[in-house]
Amino acid sequence: MTSNRMWGGRFAAGPAAVMEAINASIGFDRKLYAQDIRGSIAHARMLAETGIISAEDQKAIVQGLNTILSEIEAGTFVFKPELEDIHMNVEARLTELIGPAAGRLHTARSRNDQVALDFRLWVKDALERTADALTGLIETLLARADEHAATVMPGFTHLQSAQPVTFGHHLMAYVEMFGRDLWRVRDAIERLDENPLGAAALAGTSFPIDREKTTAELGFREPTRNSIDTVSDRDFALEFMSVAAICGTHLSRIAEEIVIWSTPQFGFVRLSDAFSTGSSIMPQKKNPDAAELIRAKTGRINGDLMALLTVMKGLPLAYSKDMQEDKEAVFDAAETLELMLAAMAGMAGDMEINKAAMKKAAGAGFATATDLADWLVRAAGLPFREAHHVSGRAVALAEETRRPLDKLSPDEFRSLHPAITDEVYSVLTVANSVKTRTSFGGTAPSQVRRQIRYWRKRLKRGARPSKLR
Ligand code: ARG
Repeated sequence: MTSNRMWGGRFAAGPAAVMEAINASIGFDRKLYAQDIRGSIAHARMLAETGIISAEDQKAIVQGLNTILSEIEAGTFVFKPELEDIHMNVEARLTELIGPAAGRLHTARSRNDQVALDFRLWVKDALERTADALTGLIETLLARADEHAATVMPGFTHLQSAQPVTFGHHLMAYVEMFGRDLWRVRDAIERLDENPLGAAALAGTSFPIDREKTTAELGFREPTRNSIDTVSDRDFALEFMSVAAICGTHLSRIAEEIVIWSTPQFGFVRLSDAFSTGSSIMPQKKNPDAAELIRAKTGRINGDLMALLTVMKGLPLAYSKDMQEDKEAVFDAAETLELMLAAMAGMAGDMEINKAAMKKAAGAGFATATDLADWLVRAAGLPFREAHHVSGRAVALAEETRRPLDKLSPDEFRSLHPAITDEVYSVLTVANSVKTRTSFGGTAPSQVRRQIRYWRKRLKRGARPSKLR
């Protein structure tokens, strides 16, 4: 075994095979190749502009790096595990291509700031992709909510019928959740947007580098301010996975509702053939597999987040090799979330809504009992507590005689409370119940449409909250 060309000065022998196996990250960090080359080109340009390397060397380096980029993209690049990671694979190939000038690229740089840069750039892209996917999902939900702004369904607490709501309102609850996710994504990008290049191994460098130049070229807002923190920090990765985990939780909740709604017992929605599967033995089955898998994959993302939190929690400053374990979790979380968001947008976009089943269920379970109590307060001047009591007795009577509330006779109502007039029947329908819930943010179709308009405007402005109503 020969000694490593990067640190062969100090090492006489090469690593044991198992050392190579535990040490190598090229199997997964090759995903960072584009970011690695982009970072190296920016670094080389800056080195030449500040006179640290010559213009000719810079030209050769940049040309060589571009050749490597095409080789990797064409699939002809040979990744070597003995070269450990993407950084050393690229540098070794650069040496083959351009000779000794390649050795000047690593001036005033360490793999510690290099990997921090590559990974930040990768996570930034992943966050941008997440923002796009979230925007797409929100737009889908807005379209469905608009269609169903006046479609009544039962609203639940404890998964028991509580009060009638509109399906549009229920969907808009998810728009609020995914809107907060999108806002969190934008925040995460803002906090991540600092250039780590130039921190070098941990202490900065004695070369006269210009970090503003690489910052501008790489599209960061500003350079990081502490070289020790820079090479020790993986908050951006943790934050990406935290955002993904919260978003996954929202996806899992709507997925769970779709599973419930699509059962024959509920029958509120019918999934399209494109987003369901059959059974190999039971011909009648149409299973909501995509929804179930979205619900399950949330667990993977939570696991990814927990893995990196655990890796980071005991590390002394600055870089430790433990941090190489940051990548697979993030790659997995990103890939998983992307798939979940796309599947949910597809499923929510083309599921069929059974308005009749929703309406029937909305009226079941004495769902307008609160409307009766509210009417007693408004029309008969009862204190709410007493009104609640009267309405409760009406429910008991209806339940005993197996009738819905609006099938109690005027005499029966009067026997419950003398102030009840025939006008009461107008508040006992579910359509009336939702129509009257016009408080800001309430379930009335007029409010739902108002919030849809608000979110359409807010999305155009990048989902940050604004004073607009
Ligand atoms: N492959 C390494 C990682 O992903 C690159 C940084 C190595 N730095 C070092 N000092 N060994 O973390």
